Amino acid sequence: MDIRTEKPEDVEAVRNINILAFGRENEAKLVDRLRGIASTFSFLAVQADRIVGHIFFSLVAVEGKCSSNLSILGLAPVAVLPNYQRQGIGTLLIQHGLKECGRSGVQAVVVLGHPDFYSRFGFIPASRKSLKCEYDVSDEAFMVLELENGALQDCSGTVKYRSEFSLCE
Ligand SMILES: CC(C)(COP(=O)(O)OP(=O)(O)OC[C@H]1O[C@@H](n2cnc3c(N)ncnc32)[C@H](O)[C@@H]1OP(=O)(O)O)[C@@H](O)C(=O)NCCC(=O)NCCS
Repeated sequence: MDIRTEKPEDVEAVRNINILAFGRENEAKLVDRLRGIASTFSFLAVQADRIVGHIFFSLVAVEGKCSSNLSILGLAPVAVLPNYQRQGIGTLLIQHGLKECGRSGVQAVVVLGHPDFYSRFGFIPASRKSLKCEYDVSDEAFMVLELENGALQDCSGTVKYRSEFSLCE
């Protein structure tokens, strides 16, 4: 299994993975809208020359008390082709993505998802770092991971995703 950065010729495969994994087009369209915007990361899982998984990160903003220099991204979406799920591919994509984000100077990552899954990577409820989600979601579903120790120490407020996210609901 190889995890690598998305290339221009991967666009169609990425669209397919998201449509098949989520069973709808919203996430595929979201990635199409976000692609190319500054501070995004897109990685693929490739097995025997077949693209089987995809993960995307994009910049979020904190409305509240926070350093304007804070580099914080949202992890969304992550998708693995149905026939390839539960084989550790999602885990590899998330681990690789977080490592690369950290290497690029990203200080924290938020995610909206299943707490049992994301806690494996060190995510904790964002409320414990005084951050809340702009959407009406349960406290434990909105999580954050500091990639730089103490990055969120003097930070509090509401995390806002880019407007492209609301277009995709
Ligand atoms: C979520 C997803 C990316 C995980 O990828 P994966 O390759 O299957 O994940 P891994 O094999 O690394 O890890 C499997 C673990 O993921 C968790 N998991 C997978 N799908 C899950 C789901 N729908 N809800 C909750 N947990 C889930 C399980 O805890 C599982 O652990 P287990 O096998 O010990 O029970 C993949 O299942 C997928 O594409 N799902 C559809 C799209 C989606 O829901 N994306 C996430 C949005 S937050």
